[in-house]
Amino acid sequence: MKIKFPENFLWGAATSGPQSEGSKDKPHLNVMDKWFQLHPEDFHNQVGPEITCNSYEKYPEDIELMQRINLNSFRTSIQWSRLIDDLETGTVNQKALKYYRDYFSRLKKANIKLMVNLYHFDMPWELQEVGGFANKHVVDLFALYAKRCFESFGDLVDMWSTMNEPIVPVEAQYLYKWWYPYISDYKLAAQVGYNTILAHAKAVKEFKILFANDSKKEITVVLNLTPSYSKDDKPENIKAAKLSDEFFNKSMLEAAVNGRFNQEFIDVLKADNVLPEFNKSELDIIANNRIDFLAVNYYQPRRIQGREKPYSGENMPDKHFENFDWAEKRINPHRGWEIHPETIYNIAMDIKNNYNNIKWFISENGMGVEGEEKFKNQDGVIQDDYRIDFIKEHLYWLHKAIQEGSNCFGYQMWTFIDCWSWANSFKNRYGFVSLDLKTQARTIKKSGTWISNCIINNEFEIEENLVNKN
Ligand code: FCB
Repeated sequence: MKIKFPENFLWGAATSGPQSEGSKDKPHLNVMDKWFQLHPEDFHNQVGPEITCNSYEKYPEDIELMQRINLNSFRTSIQWSRLIDDLETGTVNQKALKYYRDYFSRLKKANIKLMVNLYHFDMPWELQEVGGFANKHVVDLFALYAKRCFESFGDLVDMWSTMNEPIVPVEAQYLYKWWYPYISDYKLAAQVGYNTILAHAKAVKEFKILFANDSKKEITVVLNLTPSYSKDDKPENIKAAKLSDEFFNKSMLEAAVNGRFNQEFIDVLKADNVLPEFNKSELDIIANNRIDFLAVNYYQPRRIQGREKPYSGENMPDKHFENFDWAEKRINPHRGWEIHPETIYNIAMDIKNNYNNIKWFISENGMGVEGEEKFKNQDGVIQDDYRIDFIKEHLYWLHKAIQEGSNCFGYQMWTFIDCWSWANSFKNRYGFVSLDLKTQARTIKKSGTWISNCIINNEFEIEENLVNKN
């Protein structure tokens, strides 16, 4: 069966500054750089972020590779810790300015639509030390940094995003101790979450002021949506799934698209005694600075039930719900995450029906594979048929949603070249292009060749056994 996409559909891949550039020439460390200095043992094989895939030096070669696989769009991020010399006054580092301007100009020349994100978990270290987004002064410094980015690159960037997955640092750094500074504090996490939304809205405000006379300029935020499915129809499980959705999806989604917070969510925070400090003028900024389109990262859903036993732990969101292990789930055996392509359709329909059918696109989707070099053929090309099937299945459901009126205009994969991924470092590979860590050599995978044909034709053929496989 042939699946054809609308004209001008965006096809691409996403990466970020801290995961692809390396840290050469940066005037500041960011929290990840410093975390690696403090605790290298926390990182897979003790590989830190100093080099990553060295796009700081290799970007001209990388852009040629993008052209070889026909990408018509690409996302990366600017590193705050690279662009700004004086974080208080927002003076721009001239070397960084030259680097990003050359990188972005070459992408423009190559006719690749560029989306630039401003913040991808990479808080400058000095600002992390004063609390990061827990500190409202840092919120204002973020808006200043955002303004500098818009001023410096406004002529080169096609689409802007303030932040990637703003809920993730809240979870990883302030609730579940996955990442430095390993804090678990519900009240602080709620404040960080709120302040992060405020920082996003203040950046959007700067954007709207600067580009007030240019209606073509648009901005978004990249949200990771992980819809929560209830274990069954029992009211207590449905309620738990709904609440989990409020915490991890709707809090950011409502604020970004509709400029508000759900009353039900506010009530829970109040009852749990963790309502953040806020004021009316901040709420007005959030209400008046909404996104123009939405960018969604989708990897896997959540499976949720109510607490089986009465909760007796610390005050945490988890007192309201817990994960449940669905025996029938399909698993990516190389990474351990669930594969559930139909969820992409459910996300699309939710956006259509409940978020004003705002235009949107998939800004990340992907399949991480540990030990991927074992799939190399004798020419050194990774035969990642599993990834091709993964993409086909997700595109099938996305296409169905588009046919039913969802306003989706593109699909970007995580990632272009295998890149560094926080504590997991280079453990799980996601790219269309493989990276040899020792030599930095880049080799297009079988999926890279597959996507290049899909892009040229704007369509692909899907086998019957992949349709409705869920
Ligand atoms: C996403 C992040 C991205 C990368 C992938 C694997 O959640 O946006 O930086 O780490 O996961």
